[in-house]
Amino acid sequence: MGSVKPAGLSLLLLSFLVYIADSYPKRDLSNMGCDECTLKRNTIFSKDSPIYQCMGCCFSRAYPTPLKSIVTMPVRKNITSEATCCVAKSSYEVQVQTLSANIPVKNHTECHCSTCYYHKI
Ligand SMILES: *[C@@H]1O[C@H](CO)[C@@H](O)[C@H](O)[C@H]1NC(C)=O
Ligand SMILES: *[C@@H]1O[C@H](CO)[C@@H](O)[C@H](O)[C@H]1NC(C)=O
Repeated sequence: MGSVKPAGLSLLLLSFLVYIADSYPKRDLSNMGCDECTLKRNTIFSKDSPIYQCMGCCFSRAYPTPLKSIVTMPVRKNITSEATCCVAKSSYEVQVQTLSANIPVKNHTECHCSTCYYHKI
């Protein structure tokens, strides 16, 4: 086997991810009351002009932890869960006027399902 070029490898990874995304129909993704990951109007900060934020559900699943990996866990959990989160792909900061001060708020412009991380508003 020849060596795989980095570009080819990331393309392979990308198509694999697309494959995963395709193989989970939207209906299965939406847990109760949870919509698709899209931009939603933030009702708290939208006063003069609308501010959008990414909200919704992405892929998630839980399954019993395989015995092999339980042994290697520092904290043993018999249920493993995997998930991606609905996060902003791109955003920019805007100042929102409140009674006391201007506070910076992120106006999201694009969403995607990606690694979960906590972000400030
Ligand atoms: C936030 O972005 C949307 C378009 O993505 C725009 O219409 C809106 O005016 C922006 N809000 C502010 C406060 O800049
Ligand atoms: C997982 O482990 C807990 C105790 O740590 C136990 O009470 C529970 O029944 C277990 N669940 C499964 C699905 O094995």
